[in-house]
Amino acid sequence: MDRLALRECPGITARRARRAAAIGAADTDPIVWDSAAGENVHDVDGNCFVDLCAGFGVASVGHAHPRVVAAGQAQLQRLPHAMGDAFPDPRRVELMERLCELSGQDRVIFGSSGSDAVEAALKTAVLATGRRRVLTFDGGYHGLAATPLAAIGYHVDAFQGPFSALLGTFADRAAYGGPLPDLSPYAAVLVEPLQGRGGMRAPPPGWLATVAAAARSAGTVVIHDEIYSGFGRSGTLFAGGHPADPCPRPDLLCVGKALAGGFPLSACLGTAAVMDAWGASKGEAIHTQTFLGNPVGCAMGLAALAVVVDEQLPERANRLGTALVERLGRVPGVHAITGRGLMLGIHVERSLGVTRALLERGWIILPCGEQAEALGFTPPLTIADETVDAFVRELESVL
Ligand SMILES: Cc1ncc(COP(=O)(O)O)c(C=O)c1O
Repeated sequence: MDRLALRECPGITARRARRAAAIGAADTDPIVWDSAAGENVHDVDGNCFVDLCAGFGVASVGHAHPRVVAAGQAQLQRLPHAMGDAFPDPRRVELMERLCELSGQDRVIFGSSGSDAVEAALKTAVLATGRRRVLTFDGGYHGLAATPLAAIGYHVDAFQGPFSALLGTFADRAAYGGPLPDLSPYAAVLVEPLQGRGGMRAPPPGWLATVAAAARSAGTVVIHDEIYSGFGRSGTLFAGGHPADPCPRPDLLCVGKALAGGFPLSACLGTAAVMDAWGASKGEAIHTQTFLGNPVGCAMGLAALAVVVDEQLPERANRLGTALVERLGRVPGVHAITGRGLMLGIHVERSLGVTRALLERGWIILPCGEQAEALGFTPPLTIADETVDAFVRELESVL
């Protein structure tokens, strides 16, 4: 473990933070990230932290994994940009093939952010069904661009309120893990198989299979949003279809965050049956982006997926997560642990104070859940066993 004691330099830190906040580069948290490797982040003042958020769930293979960096550098020299969907480049085709192989899906629409992937999925569902409404769930988070924002179930008033003039009214919400309404009016059911920002929550066993069966008989498209949970974080490659809670393959699967090891790349994957609703191009592409399937992102994505598979990161997440749940269960002050793999919610009193105290001791962790009721433990899946042990001791001492 490469974790140094947090060095005290409050003057410089506070000045830098104020400057960063003034240009909108950060909130008032006095850390300005300078470099990162593996599970560690170094700030501009020479402090070293353990990143227990993996940079919002992005650094699943660790920050700056050498294979991912090398792939990005090589591609940057060769072809940093191509022409979206007009002319393919080999890396984009290879990544599409690899994603289909790993997910069991047939088609891919790339995007840059998670929001892009969710928007592509919602458009696909509307095209495939000719219906207009979408069912989403309490606590669901799908991004803040206008289309996914209209479908979130997390901090709804705060996130949607100021922008209601711009938002569609196509989404209805039901309780996550609860009874379902008649699905026949809906184009899609949009669900996180393992909820992230909403509190690292798994639905009751069998519920995802019930959603799939009800959707199938209603002709409704099932969209799994695995932007947070995908690529091993849940203890299996994808959270939907986990052996502990099997369910059929979704019609559409949204991925992002960890996909390209730090490059902003996302994708909506889908079955041919649903994706073919887009039909053949009639000249003008009706869904595209300037940077669609950027070659550097695709090269880094291929490398990141190879690391996930070669280093058996889903298995590692499962092993570490299972052991951690067991240990945390004995820590006084931990009321409950939710989630799976290395996507855990550690429920404590005064989570904001606890995250602050941990930050001062060199641990970056964020609260999660509607009431910030838990600490969201989503570290790199490569995190060392000793680092996890040290975190448990530190948490015990802070609590
Ligand atoms: C499940 C889920 N979906 C979608 C998003 C949105 O992704 P982005 O912030 O890249 O648009 C997030 C981001 O946290 C997420 O957790």
